[in-house]
Amino acid sequence: MILESIELKNIRSYDEQEIIFPKGITLFEGDMGSGKSSILMAIEFALFGTGSQKGDGLLSKKTKEGSVTLKFEVDGTSYEIKRDLKRTTKTVRQGDKNCHLKIGDEVFPFSPGELKQEILKILKFNEPASPNAQSKIYRYAIFTPQEEMKQILYDSEKRLETIRRAFGVEDYKKATDNAQRITHSMNTKLVVLKDRLKNADERRNNVKNWELKIGKKEKELETIKKIIKEIKNKLEKKSNEREKIDENNAEKDKAIVLKEQIELKLETKNSKITEYSERIKEIRGEIKEKESEINEIKDKKSPSKLTEKEIDAITNRIEKFNSEKIECNVRKKRFEEDVTKLQKLGTECVYCHQKITKEHQTKMADERENEISHIESKLTEIDYEIVKLLADVEIDKKEDSKMMVRRLVDLKNALKVFEESKEKIKQLEEVQKRLYVKLNEKQKTIDDTRLEKKDLDKKFDEIFSTIQSLPNFDKELKIIQNEEKVIQDKLTANIKKSGQIEEEERHAKRQAELWEKGVKEAEDWKKEQRRLVDYHTWIKEFFIPTVNQIEKQVLITIQQSFNEAYRRWFKMLIDDDSKDSWLDENFTPILEQDGSDQDYIYLSGGEQTCVSLAYRLSLNTMMRKNTESLKSNLLILDEPTSGFSKNQLVKVKDVLHELNSEQIILVSHEKELETYVDNIFHISISDGYSKISRSVSHQ
Ligand SMILES: Nc1ncnc2c1ncn2[C@@H]1O[C@H](COP(=O)(O)OP(=O)(O)OP(=O)(O)O)[C@@H](O)[C@H]1O
Ligand SMILES: [Mg+2]
Repeated sequence: MILESIELKNIRSYDEQEIIFPKGITLFEGDMGSGKSSILMAIEFALFGTGSQKGDGLLSKKTKEGSVTLKFEVDGTSYEIKRDLKRTTKTVRQGDKNCHLKIGDEVFPFSPGELKQEILKILKFNEPASPNAQSKIYRYAIFTPQEEMKQILYDSEKRLETIRRAFGVEDYKKATDNAQRITHSMNTKLVVLKDRLKNADERRNNVKNWELKIGKKEKELETIKKIIKEIKNKLEKKSNEREKIDENNAEKDKAIVLKEQIELKLETKNSKITEYSERIKEIRGEIKEKESEINEIKDKKSPSKLTEKEIDAITNRIEKFNSEKIECNVRKKRFEEDVTKLQKLGTECVYCHQKITKEHQTKMADERENEISHIESKLTEIDYEIVKLLADVEIDKKEDSKMMVRRLVDLKNALKVFEESKEKIKQLEEVQKRLYVKLNEKQKTIDDTRLEKKDLDKKFDEIFSTIQSLPNFDKELKIIQNEEKVIQDKLTANIKKSGQIEEEERHAKRQAELWEKGVKEAEDWKKEQRRLVDYHTWIKEFFIPTVNQIEKQVLITIQQSFNEAYRRWFKMLIDDDSKDSWLDENFTPILEQDGSDQDYIYLSGGEQTCVSLAYRLSLNTMMRKNTESLKSNLLILDEPTSGFSKNQLVKVKDVLHELNSEQIILVSHEKELETYVDNIFHISISDGYSKISRSVSHQ
């Protein structure tokens, strides 16, 4: 570690002050109470907090708040650490908010406690990180407050502890302590295991007992299973017998059902036969009916020999004759009227009213008479024709022509009726034919039905006799069912019993399993016990003694180098050849004067300073040389020369150069030292405030 600068705000006698620390040997020099030690206190506070420096002693009495900002470098990395102090009504404590650690350009707002942990890591100090613990390594190897300079000579226990920690020997002790602790916890575990293993035999016996019970239950089960098998066989036989009877019974039931079905069919057949017989009777009646109807129609005679067509032709001609007759009569009448008129006629023509002659008149009358006779002969002719026409029909010729036509129409109608009755006969015969067909069909159906009935009767007789021949199965069935029930009950009872035995066997198995688990557990405990005993023996008899041995060896090695360095520093500092000093195995300085040991309490103040400075210088160089835990080329000495003679002060120069530290900070009021150092800061105090000025080195 190399210090770069410090900024003080309201620390002891300083209000605001920044100091840039140069490399090499720097002297802070000033009168008593000027503010020298305050700078060193501030450095320690910045690094380790109030564990080493009390806040109350640091914060200026005149203010409520103060701070220290320290910049330093470790292994080429720059760090800045800032801590705050705040006065409360009772005390002065570190502020939580304004402290930080800056690594390079990155600021970490750590709490005061975290800051200390980080610094210990950066400096690789193997020390407790609690905020209130002092950094002893820093105190011995880098900086010792002025008033504690000589304390190192008296407090042998603290001294040894610090040396062990600083050189990493502490780890061996920690290892043996931990090993001791482990053996203690092993002992506790072993006691517990011993207690647990007390009933291990009982567990094994229980397993045996339950296994015996299982064997017994297995035998019982075997026996009962045999019995069950026999009963099941019997039961099977019985149920086979019953099934046979059931089958027979089913056959009988089937036959009965069949018989009933045949009966039903027979009934149907009988009613069919009856129904068809009746139907046949009806058809026969119908045929008879049709026959008499036919006969009745057959007996009728035709009203004419002529056909309807012929009658129609006669009727037409008669009607034509009749109209001719009417026409003739009309003409005749007109001629007759003309004749009458002519007879009465004078000389004037009735028609053309011209004058006519008698001859002409007679001629005209004759002409008309002629016409009349023509008409009359025509009429006679017509009548003759009519008589001829009526010759084939029995119509009176005397009847008038209208009546004649009516008679002809009647005749035609009668002929039509007659023709129709002939058609009716045809139809009736057709119906009769169909009835015969039906009759035959019905007759056939009856015959078939009778045949079927005969078959059914036969079947009925057969099935009836079969049913009659079969025994009464129900009685047999009841007997067998009773026997079957007895066997079934026996089987149920035995199955129940076997279930009980199985349950007992299961219980025994569960118990055996539980106790087996217990035995397994005990075996595991036994194994664990053996393992623990092995480990215990190994730790106690091998590990701890070995580690102790290593520790001793390491300490001896350290002690030897340490002693060498100490003797060298002592020799350099002491200005008296009669005095010698070295370190014993506990790192305690031993002093010898003129061949006899001397207790250092009887040494002069300067000699005591000499011993303690030699000790601290050795510690500092040793740690720089031998261990990684002190990443420091820094040495801070506060009044290291108090009580030194002028001669000794001169020797300090050699010592400082011999140290070959990158940075040494010296605090002293000895003006003498100014000539040995690279940088000088002069500190003065006025009006209660310290001021620093840098002066030129005299080197
Ligand atoms: N909390 C404080 N507030 C203000 N001043 C203080 C406080 N504590 C101590 N002082 C004073 O600060 C001054 C500087 O003290 P410091 O210990 O730094 O002196 P010094 O230069 O080391 O003296 P010396 O040579 O006697 O060791 C002293 O006068 C001291 O009484
Ligand atoms: Mg001082």
